[in-house]
Amino acid sequence: MNALTKDSRKAAARVGLTSDVITIDGGKPLTGEIHIRGAKNLVTKAMVAALLAESPSVLRDVPAISDVGVVTGMLEAYGVAVDTLEDGVLRFDPSNVLRAHFAEIDALAGSSRIPILFCGPLLHRLGEALIPDLGGCRIGDRPIDFHMDALRAFGAVVDKSYEGIRLTAPDGLHGADIELPYPSVGATEQVLLTAVLAKGTTELRNAAIEPEIMDLIAILQKMGAIINVEPNRVIFIEGVEHLSGYDHRAIFDRNEAASWASAALATKGDIVLLGARQQELMTFLNIFRKVGGAFDVREDGIRFWHPGGELKPVVVETDVHPGFMTDWQQPLVVALTQAHGHSVVHETVYENRLGFTDALNQMGANIVVHSAGLESVTRRVPRRPLEQAAVIEGPTPLHGADIEIPDLRGGFSHLIAALTAEGRSRVSNVGIIARGYEHFVHKLELLGAEFSLED
Ligand code: EPZ
Repeated sequence: MNALTKDSRKAAARVGLTSDVITIDGGKPLTGEIHIRGAKNLVTKAMVAALLAESPSVLRDVPAISDVGVVTGMLEAYGVAVDTLEDGVLRFDPSNVLRAHFAEIDALAGSSRIPILFCGPLLHRLGEALIPDLGGCRIGDRPIDFHMDALRAFGAVVDKSYEGIRLTAPDGLHGADIELPYPSVGATEQVLLTAVLAKGTTELRNAAIEPEIMDLIAILQKMGAIINVEPNRVIFIEGVEHLSGYDHRAIFDRNEAASWASAALATKGDIVLLGARQQELMTFLNIFRKVGGAFDVREDGIRFWHPGGELKPVVVETDVHPGFMTDWQQPLVVALTQAHGHSVVHETVYENRLGFTDALNQMGANIVVHSAGLESVTRRVPRRPLEQAAVIEGPTPLHGADIEIPDLRGGFSHLIAALTAEGRSRVSNVGIIARGYEHFVHKLELLGAEFSLED
C-alpha cells in the first residue's frame, strides 16, 4: 500500500468512514441544503493557540474532519485535555503541558503540516520543541524556510537531529523585526503564535491577511494579546506576559463553500450553503458570476445554482487574499470543462497544483498544463519561478472513469467530475477528502447524489 493510501485510510478511520473507495453514478444535478461549519484552516490553528493559555479555551463550530482529530491527538500528547462539550464544541485545558514522545507526534502528524505551528507555543511553554519532517498535501515542495528564519529571529536555536528538527530557546524569545519573502499563511501564523508571548515588540511585514488569519488574531486578542494590523500587510505585535483561554466561534470554511458551489455549477444543480457568508467569498462570487453561475446571498447562507444556458470561459489567476484563492481553482476547473471556449487558470501560489487535471482528461476533458506558466497573463504579484497554467477547452462531456485522489482539493474536484460525468466512476483514496470536508458522504446523500461506498 502506498503512503497516500495509508494516509487516506487513517483519515477515513478518524472520522468513522468505513470505506476508502466510492462508486458514483454521475450526470445528475446536486440539489438541496447543507451546512458549512468552521474553517479547517482556522480551527486547527485556533487549537494550537489554546496551548498558549493559562486557562481553558472553548472553540465552537468545529467541523468533524480528520485534521481536527490529528491536532486533538497532538494536543493530548502534550498534556492538553481535550473534551467535546457538545457536537462541534471543544474545550482545551492546557494546565498540565508536558513533553510528548517524539514517536507519538511523528505517527500522529502523518502528512499534516500542523506540527510546525506548535514550535512557538512549545518554546514558550517548555523551552524546547521537536518536530517531525513535514508533509501536508502533495502540491509542491512546501518548504519551511520562512518558519525557521522567523523562529531564529525570535531567538530560537534550530538544530537538525536524526528524528526531525529540534528547537530550543536558551535565553527565551524576544520580539523581532521580520519581513516575509512572500505573504505565507503558515509563516504569518507562526509569527503571531510566537510573538504574542515574546518579550518586546514584533513588526511583521509582507504578512498574509487571509480571513482565517484575521480570525486567529481575534482569538489571540480575546486571550489578552495586543496585535495591530496596519495597511500594506504590516502587523505589530506587543508581547504580553500571560494569556488566558478564549471562547470563540470559528469563521465558516470558505474553501468548502467554494467547492460545493462549483459542484452545483458543474452538475447543473442548486445548492444552499447554510452558514456561508458573502464577505469572505467576494472574489470567488465574481468569477462564479462571470462563468455564468447564479447566487443569492441570504440571511442564513448563500444559494448557488446553474441558471441554464451556456457557461462562459474565464481567465483566473490564483493569489494571496484578497485574490482568488489557490484552493478554489481545482473545483472550479471541473465547471470550466463545461464552459464554451478556452479558460485559463494560472496557479501562482504552489508549483504542483494542476496535476489533478490528468484525471479530468482521462474522463474526457481537454486541459493542457503549461508547466512554466503563461507570459501574457497580467498579474498583481511579481513572477515566481514556480508558476503553472492550465488551458481548459470546453465544453467537453465527461464520462465515468477509475480515478485515484491525489490531495485534498484536487480530490474534491475528482469527486465533482465523477458527479458531473455520465456513467459510473470509481474513486479511491476518498479518505483524503475527510481531512477537510465535514460529513461529505452524508452531504452527498442530502444533495441527491447516486453513489455507494465499497466494502
Ligand atoms: C495554507 O498553507 C493552507 N493550509 C493551504 O490550504 C492554502 O492553500 C495555503 O495556505 C494558501 O492559502 C493550512 O492553512 C493548513 P503558505 P500554508 O505558507 O500555510 C511558500 C488546504 O488544502 N513557502 O501560504 O502551508 C510555499 O511553498 C491547504 O486546505 C515557502 O517558500 O501555505 C507556497 O509556494 C493546502 N517557504 C507559498 O509560500 C515557507 O517556509 C504559500 O504557502 C512557507 C511557504
